[in-house]
Parts: sequence; C-alpha cells; structure tokens
Amino acid sequence: MATFSKKIQKLGVYTSGGDAPGMNAALRAVVRVAIAQKLEVFGVMQGYVGMMENHIAPLTQRDVANIIQRGGTVIKTGRSTEFTKPEGRAKAAANLKAHGIDALVCIGGDGSFRGAHALWEEHQIPVVGVPGTIDNDIFGSDKTIGFDTAVNTALEAIDRIRDTAASHDRLFIVEVMGRNSGFIASHVGLAGGAEEIFTPESTTTVEKAVEHIKEGISRGKSSSILVTAEGQKPGRAYDLAEAIRKKTGWDAKVCILGHQQRGGSPSAADRILASRMGAAAVDSLLKGRCDIMIGTEGERLVEVPLDLVTKSEKKAHLDLVSLANILAT
Ligand code: F6P
Repeated sequence: MATFSKKIQKLGVYTSGGDAPGMNAALRAVVRVAIAQKLEVFGVMQGYVGMMENHIAPLTQRDVANIIQRGGTVIKTGRSTEFTKPEGRAKAAANLKAHGIDALVCIGGDGSFRGAHALWEEHQIPVVGVPGTIDNDIFGSDKTIGFDTAVNTALEAIDRIRDTAASHDRLFIVEVMGRNSGFIASHVGLAGGAEEIFTPESTTTVEKAVEHIKEGISRGKSSSILVTAEGQKPGRAYDLAEAIRKKTGWDAKVCILGHQQRGGSPSAADRILASRMGAAAVDSLLKGRCDIMIGTEGERLVEVPLDLVTKSEKKAHLDLVSLANILAT
C-alpha cells in the first residue's frame, strides 16, 4: 500500500473493462459518499478511453439517482490498448491534472487495475480499485461485483434448458462466460446439477464426461447437462459437442449463454457489495491510502496492494466441480 499527504478536493471515478451488474451501485456509492465528505466528483466516461480523450464531466448526487437497480454502467466502459503504453497514460494524466482531479476510484477488473497502478507509479495519481467483473477472478477478494448476478442469470437459463432436455431425453452443453477462470462454470454447474463441468482449471476430459453420462444412462438417466467455461475460445461448446458426436454418435445440443450473463438488474448481494466497496474506496483515499484494491475476506472488507492483485492469480475451487460430479448420479 502507498500513502500520500495531499488533501483531496476533486475525485474522479470510472468504470473499465467488461461491464458487470452492480457497477452502477458502486458508482452511486462513490459519488454520494464523496459529496457527503465535501469533495467534488468527476465521472470519466468509457474508462481509459474517455480519460485519454478528455471525456470528463462533473457528477452530482442527482446524476446517480435511480441507477442502483440498473445493469451495465451509466458512465460507460471500454477496453484500451493505447492506455497500456506510457504515451497513452501520459495523455490521460495530463487531462486529469487539467481538471484538477486529485485522486481516482477505478471500478473494474485486473487489466483496469494494471492501468491504475501505472497511473500512480508514473504520474503519482492516487487510485483505489473496486473489483467489478462477473468472472470473480480477482486475487485478493473472495467476491467481485457482478459475479452473484451472473451466476443467477446463468442458472435461470440452465433451469429452463433442463425442462426441454428432460422432455426430449437430450444431452445439452451449456457454455458460460469466464475467459481465464471457471468460477461461473463451477458455481452454476453445481447449483444447476450438471453432470460434468469443464473449467480452465479442471482436468475434466470428453472421455470422462462420456463415461459419466453412460453410467447415468445405465441407472436410468435420460437427459444430461454439461457446463463449460468459454475459456480462451468462445464457442468451445461446439468443439465439445463434435468430440462427443465422434466418440458416441450422440447429438449434443449446444447453448451459449454469452453476454446476457453480463446484463440485467444486479442481485441484492451485488448491490450491497458494490455500495460497501464504493464507500470504502472513498474512505481509504480520504485517509491518504492508495495503490490498493478494496477486497473482501469473508464478510470483512480489506485493502490489498494493486501490485499484488495484478501479479497474482485466483483460480476457481475444484472441490465444487468434484462435488457436482458426485451429486449428479
Ligand atoms: O471479463 C468478463 C468477460 O465477460 C469474460 O468472461 C469474457 O471472456 C470477456 O469479458 C468478454 O469480453 P468482450 O465483451 O470484450 O468480448
């Protein structure tokens, strides 16, 4: 953790990377807590893109009215390759300084935090991160904003798929999001009663899945659901279906849930988490602490150095995958 002594008067806030349900609730908390502490607040539109293009405007309490229940992010988000270069960051820092912005709250994932850490290191702009991503793959926080909602959205879809799978005695492969981690897949797979769960962390193979399904059939099972994380290759459910067809001749149906998992009204758990984290981020900055992320350890909020967050990996627990396996008999 780094510290700074300058008194903050103007605070900037931005959302960055993939949007996540609950980002608006976090934004609302940041704006309202900061204004209650007599700070001026500025919204940076579209994350680092708006920071470099100077799309920065004041935010009042009214600007964040009626957004706690909304998915997405009202100040928009973006992914930027230009900001990964020092020239991009220098442009952004110059815009922030021209507005007199003393400190920032970054609501985003690990890529966003790498940028935030660099802004502090290179331009001494104090930043505190709030983890917002449906993937739940941020080291230093048990939970990220958006994960709970995304799991429930995907689960609702799986429950519907189960109805049609059972009616037709079919095998379905459902693909959920998660580029580097299987948090959504393992949680949704367990909660949705999947036969097998494929995640970037697990060693599940097509052979194992087929064997498991055959065992189920021998016990009278007539339909099955496999869940896979998209991993590095969105659409991998089709590859799995093809591999299963080659091995068994079975016609597995594929359902890719995709970006619908990122949208929708945030769950109560996500709204509460976002409100607490947003408020804590402002509080840390007012105490002169920065270059940190607000994370959770159980129910407790903790401060974790951004350097540690971005250099470490958080992997999904495989015990959920093996439990799902045992229970799907
Ligand atoms: O980081 C969240 C996430 O939804 C990943 O699960 C997914 O792989 C990625 O974003 C997709 O990003 P984009 O919408 O930019 O294609």
